[in-house]
Amino acid sequence: MSSLDMASLPVEPNVQELVRSNPLKIPEKYLLKNIDQQDKPKSIANTSHDFSSDDIPIIDFSLLSSGHAEELNKLDLACKEWGFFQLVNHGVAREVLQGMKDGSAKFFELPLEEKNKISMSTAKGTREGYGQASVATEEQTLDWSDALVLNLYPSQIRNLEYWPTTPRGFKEAIEAYASEVKRVGEEILRSLSLTMGMEKDVLLGLHQDLAAALRINYIPPCSMPDKVLGLSAHADAGTITVLMQEDNVIGLQIRNQGQWVSVKPIPNSFVVNVGDALEIWSNGKYKSIEHRAVTNESKARMSYASFIFPHVDVEIEPFDHILESSGTIQMYKKVKYGDYLIQCLKRKMEGKEHTQNAKLGST
Ligand code: OGA
Ligand code: NI
Repeated sequence: MSSLDMASLPVEPNVQELVRSNPLKIPEKYLLKNIDQQDKPKSIANTSHDFSSDDIPIIDFSLLSSGHAEELNKLDLACKEWGFFQLVNHGVAREVLQGMKDGSAKFFELPLEEKNKISMSTAKGTREGYGQASVATEEQTLDWSDALVLNLYPSQIRNLEYWPTTPRGFKEAIEAYASEVKRVGEEILRSLSLTMGMEKDVLLGLHQDLAAALRINYIPPCSMPDKVLGLSAHADAGTITVLMQEDNVIGLQIRNQGQWVSVKPIPNSFVVNVGDALEIWSNGKYKSIEHRAVTNESKARMSYASFIFPHVDVEIEPFDHILESSGTIQMYKKVKYGDYLIQCLKRKMEGKEHTQNAKLGST
């Protein structure tokens, strides 16, 4: 079984085509319904001056990898208090980042027939390829975005038939980006192993064959940014997510103390967040925070999310030493990671429902 083994329902036409054919028309199924006042996406103009955005922790990767105690402490606090941080000095060459951005921009500009050659809807029971990655039920409000999803690691699970052959060189650019993100991700897992009170390689080792998948999101401009979401509120199911944002289009928002806070891009940095697997392992000490992407009235936005997660056969449960040292009760059940992932993909759930269901005492 592949790790992303759940077909998405086909949706026609895709969002990029909708905007191209009529920029002012927004079909009913994309419009947000019954949304609380405080959750309404505000237009970017109102959120870009959000003072809290500057409080999102910034972690220096080069210090982490040299075992800098103060930086490890900052990482620990960031995962406890925010579940999110910006990562600078990661050492990934600009050309590698730019290669990914340029290739993706060209790919999404291709005619629909060309992109549909690797369409998710023709995929045999897998959720790889080009399409709408988050569609699970007919009734749900749809996200104002298209995506290209690919399995990256372990390399044996790559389905090369979904890897784009146009534009030329894009495949190689993805490959180069993937191996760099893996290197960075592994190093973060080593640091997290230390901050969780274990030997450096324990957490990474527990993943067995480390898995990673890539989702390139394309969020077209939207004439009613306060009525739709590019990506609806969700938490990521993996251990950590390493995200590259566009340098000059704001879109990502995270929930912090009940408020939606925009994550202002820092050029050439990554945004890293705690996923559900890490929340479970840490017994909730580290939090997999809800986040979403809002749309922009005039600009398209692309983002590149790499989800790093354990092998599907790995059983995850809160670490004994964390339960003992914190004196807290076990909050989450033991679960086979592949089973957890299937639950996540089968039902698109709002926000934090998946980890709620993983808690002891839930049915
Ligand atoms: C995701 C995600 C955020 C963004 O793909 O899971 O949360 O900024 N992306 O696009
Ligand atoms: Ni996400």
